[in-house]
Amino acid sequence: MTKSNRKPFVLANWKINLDPEEINPYLDQVLPAVADEEAVTVGIAAQDLYLGQLVARTKGSQLKIAAENTHWMDRGAFTGETSPRALAKVGVTYVLIGHFERRSFFNETDETVNLKVKAALRNGLLPIVDLDEDLSAYHGQVPEDVVLKQLAAALDGVVGTDLARVTIAYEPTWAIGSGEAASPEQAEEAAALIRQSVQNLYGPDIAANVRILYGGSVTPENGTDFLSQADIDGILVGKAALTPASFLALVAAAKAATAS
Ligand code: PGA
Repeated sequence: MTKSNRKPFVLANWKINLDPEEINPYLDQVLPAVADEEAVTVGIAAQDLYLGQLVARTKGSQLKIAAENTHWMDRGAFTGETSPRALAKVGVTYVLIGHFERRSFFNETDETVNLKVKAALRNGLLPIVDLDEDLSAYHGQVPEDVVLKQLAAALDGVVGTDLARVTIAYEPTWAIGSGEAASPEQAEEAAALIRQSVQNLYGPDIAANVRILYGGSVTPENGTDFLSQADIDGILVGKAALTPASFLALVAAAKAATAS
């Protein structure tokens, strides 16, 4: 299998940015451009409060909505959490799991990431598993052991047939929101290692099909450099996705990459 078997994925991560009144104007610009997009998977991850509105407005379109987190229990006494069952029932498609900001500010561990990945799959959500580097990792080198340990832990107990529903995102912590992206070569090195590790765990066919994204200070200026790498199948975009024009420029870059 070659890269052409893997549809490129461009995911906006709004985090807790954008005010409620900014949502419709954003969609007014983005939706017409991507509503029928078949060549690229386009998604927006947003805070829970906005998900219902986003699902309603994007219904019937190719624009997919993602949650930024989930609890691992389907129901119960977990005040303030959001259940994966509820996310699926309101029409959310993807869920980001283990983002660096969750791991570092909200004590997300490899164990809770794993519980959440399994909860997402159990409920029919498509998990995007975020792998990052420890902050103390040497800047400029792919910290193989940190990332691969997170990968194995996140997928513990996940069967091979479920891997077709999993996306993996590699985001060096020092690149997130810093304006200093990894070099495309560094990102490719990490993505190739991750793919090799998936192969070790699940075999070559599954590894050849799993989508691996790069995230961390992606911009319209550097997006193509990442998207053209052999093992990078998409981009996870924070700041640059807050403006419809730059988000759409990255979607266009992903589409162009499929043609090359
Ligand atoms: P950034 O965020 O593009 O602003 O670096 C990426 C992310 O946090 O996923």
